[in-house]
Amino acid sequence: MTISISGLSVSRSGRTLLHPTTVNIEPGERVGLVGASGSGKSTLGHALVDALRRQGHSVAHVPQSPDEALDPLRSMGFHWAEAESALDLAPDVARQKALFEALRIDGGDLRKRPWGWSRGMQQRFVIAMGLIGTPDLLVMDEPTSALDPVVAARSMDLLDRYLADRQTALLLITHDLGLAARRMSRLMVMHEGRIVEDAPTAALLAAPGTAAAKALCLHRNWLALPC
Ligand SMILES: Nc1ncnc2c1ncn2[C@@H]1O[C@H](COP(=O)(O)OP(=O)(O)O)[C@@H](O)[C@H]1O
Ligand SMILES: [Mg+2]
Repeated sequence: MTISISGLSVSRSGRTLLHPTTVNIEPGERVGLVGASGSGKSTLGHALVDALRRQGHSVAHVPQSPDEALDPLRSMGFHWAEAESALDLAPDVARQKALFEALRIDGGDLRKRPWGWSRGMQQRFVIAMGLIGTPDLLVMDEPTSALDPVVAARSMDLLDRYLADRQTALLLITHDLGLAARRMSRLMVMHEGRIVEDAPTAALLAAPGTAAAKALCLHRNWLALPC
């Protein structure tokens, strides 16, 4: 299902954090939302997830750190069961096995609490939980910033492979243009609460039109990082 939202805006305490914004994402599309810290990326991500859920879309949101999604007092199995019941889904061992295999968390002990798992495994578990309901859109906010680059690249590779033959679209929110450029087919650039540029990745890298995009492109050496 194509995702289409217009007039999305956010104000807090009289300050406009997100100016009226339109977002269109095709099924299965890979879109990067890039921009400097404080430009409004997370604000847009949250507003988009809320608005799409109100429209009846199934949308998964993977926060920046697994700590935001996992309760340290609850077992991993508890989190999984809770995610299933939130979606009104009966427990399904085969679905769990397939997602665990896809994201290489099949060795994880579900009786353990989050801190019994490595950060990379926790992050992949949170991604897998988001995929339980086969969402129309997966929104990942700075998904690799809590991980070391090699572990992060591995998680992104596994996710890429899993999504490749599905219709789930991906919105990757990151301040890292290199990460977005390497993996996303279209980039939206944010600056001071507005999307100032929205173009296919190759076109944007070849000819950034705005000062914000030019500033991001100056750091093209980031493309050399593994993720
Ligand atoms: N709950 C809030 N109340 C007031 N200001 C906020 C709130 N959340 C974020 N902001 C401000 O909104 C701007 C955009 O923040 P954010 O969306 O987190 O940017 P980014 O994710 O691009 O780093 C920043 O100036 C931030 O300080
Ligand atoms: Mg943010």
